[in-house]
Amino acid sequence: MKSGVVVLMAGVIFALLCLFPPSANAMPTNATLRLPDVVIIGVRKGGTRALLEMLSLHRDIVAAQRELHFFDWDSHYQRGVDWYASQMPLAGPGQLTVEKTPAYFTSSRVPERLLGALPSARLLLIVREPVERLLSDYTQVFQHRLEKHKPQQTLETLLMRHGRLNLDYRALNRSLYHEHLQRWLRLVPRARLHLVDGDALIRDPLPEMRKVEEFLQLEPQINAHNFYFNQTKGFFCLRERRRERCLHTSKGRKHPHLAPEILHKLYDYFHEPNQKFFQLAGRTFDWK
Ligand code: A3P
Repeated sequence: MKSGVVVLMAGVIFALLCLFPPSANAMPTNATLRLPDVVIIGVRKGGTRALLEMLSLHRDIVAAQRELHFFDWDSHYQRGVDWYASQMPLAGPGQLTVEKTPAYFTSSRVPERLLGALPSARLLLIVREPVERLLSDYTQVFQHRLEKHKPQQTLETLLMRHGRLNLDYRALNRSLYHEHLQRWLRLVPRARLHLVDGDALIRDPLPEMRKVEEFLQLEPQINAHNFYFNQTKGFFCLRERRRERCLHTSKGRKHPHLAPEILHKLYDYFHEPNQKFFQLAGRTFDWK
């Protein structure tokens, strides 16, 4: 090959590497498919995607991008753990593999199945103030139904029955964290489960991420440079080397207005369950 061509090709490769630098989590050659070392079990609308994306900023983390629903969907569970491992991304030695499926936290069949298949996995649970989470949950279902041209119901209709809170409303039940956590703690030692404060992660992600790094015994790598506040989105976005990105538009939706008297009913209702949750969790959260 002529030396001019070689120089030209080297120049093109150099330019491509500058334009598209390999990600921080570039794969070593001896990478393998493995079952998850870490599972983000929920809670739905707690900020699970933000947590996964922020954790992926760490070089020693490789995360499945899709929610795998292995333990909560029978059709997936019946395919066996080899199928589960095949859905995970390639990971090098020393890297931790992460999966997130927020439905795991509230599904009664999951703890036993998960502990059976992943006896030493570490679990992350991100929670948010329960009323805020409920509003977010409603908004997501509303949006999905809108996209599928299905009829809508107002939040008031779903929440209220004969002047009282409708305790059968699933979005309300999903915010009863103590009930779900209790089920998990029957099988999982508390030390294997780390709680992330989803409201704090929204306000200031770095301190929450530092605690996650510590829990996972990762070298501290995630730093202030990885985050910048985007005024238009109204949330922190991520910076990895020179690439900047915000979460998808489905994250950070506007919530519906709820009449103050219904909001008060909700705050009253959650007061006691929240205390029970704090007791189980061994810590408190700054909730109304
Ligand atoms: P809203 O869309 O109701 O605001 P999940 O990923 O578990 O579905 O959670 C979605 C929630 O993550 C969003 O709920 C949003 O509030 C929260 N979130 C936390 N950090 C975020 C970030 N940096 N960008 C966008 N949304 C974030």
